[in-house]
Amino acid sequence: MKKVGIIGWRGMVGSVLMDRMAQEGDFQGFKSYLFSTSLKGEKAPIYPNTHDTVLDSNSIEELSDMDFIVTCQGGDYTKDIHPKLRSAGWNGLWIDAASALRMKEDAIIVLDPVNSSQIEQGLNNGVKDYIGGNCTVSLMLMGLGGLFKEGLVDWMSSMTYQAASGAGARNMLELLSQMNHIGEKYNLLKSDPANGALEIETSLATELKGNSFPKDMFGYPLALSLLPWIDVPVEGGQSKEEWKAQVEANKILGTQKIIPIDGTCVRVGALRCHSQGFTIKLNKSVDLKTVEDLIANHNDWVEFVPNEKEMTLSKLTPTYTSGTLKIPVGRVRKMTLGDQYLNAFSIGDQLLWGAAEPLRRTLLMALK
Ligand code: HSE
Repeated sequence: MKKVGIIGWRGMVGSVLMDRMAQEGDFQGFKSYLFSTSLKGEKAPIYPNTHDTVLDSNSIEELSDMDFIVTCQGGDYTKDIHPKLRSAGWNGLWIDAASALRMKEDAIIVLDPVNSSQIEQGLNNGVKDYIGGNCTVSLMLMGLGGLFKEGLVDWMSSMTYQAASGAGARNMLELLSQMNHIGEKYNLLKSDPANGALEIETSLATELKGNSFPKDMFGYPLALSLLPWIDVPVEGGQSKEEWKAQVEANKILGTQKIIPIDGTCVRVGALRCHSQGFTIKLNKSVDLKTVEDLIANHNDWVEFVPNEKEMTLSKLTPTYTSGTLKIPVGRVRKMTLGDQYLNAFSIGDQLLWGAAEPLRRTLLMALK
């Protein structure tokens, strides 16, 4: 029976992964081993076919005993452990949520509804590293895969609206603390009849800039505001999150000629789910019905939302999408810019299709 080591199972992505695996009855046909530094030697939580004791996630010897390693532990762990394991001669499959190895030439970025043939080919040809894509990139390709598959995209701009939890659990909790702080202040302000809407707004604006406003994680207020910069700067004025869109999407698609993709990535006050507004330049004129069908029929998770107000407001939102595998795509229309310019908007749960789901599906493909 194959041995599967799982690391980072207590974090946000890892917890979602474990839940999904349990929900889908994945824990069969292999034996799983949970690894952790802080819990090593302790009793492992109960999952089917799982070793009863937690192993040491820094032990190259224990890790080397695995046929597959699935990690959601983060990039620092990958950068530390992956080279040590490989140089110790470990030849198993490394399946990773972190970005560290994504652009390595012999690593495959996994998103099987889009690139299952690339993954199958890799598995048959001895590729050893399978890395989940950036959340917004995976969600973009899940939503618009039909247009890319048909070779219709000349270039694209993606403007993102990314939830606080994309920055991590502590950031998400900080957003809630910020909201709570605002709520408490608002309760005080509204109890004074002299305060109208403008007085309340002015006081809260001052509060946001004050020293007592909780912002250790984000560094700035996110509640009642937004933050148009995600990750570190890279060349050319992009943030790294923006840079990933083109390089990762083209790698996943296996394009011969690079499809330019660029935009501004923005953190917004949603708890969970990343949303994106797209401007898509088609390389030929295509009627709207064909576009809609291509998007809607690309995979089982796209939920095509007609470009109508009520449908949009009820279905094209993080509220509707959170905690589900749905990929609502809507606001699809020709833009006034010209016949070959499409507008679209999509949402996806960045912890599911944006992180955990492609990993568990890759593990299942590898185990076949
Ligand atoms: N880079 C992403 C973000 C993480 O900051 O939102 C994926 O959720």
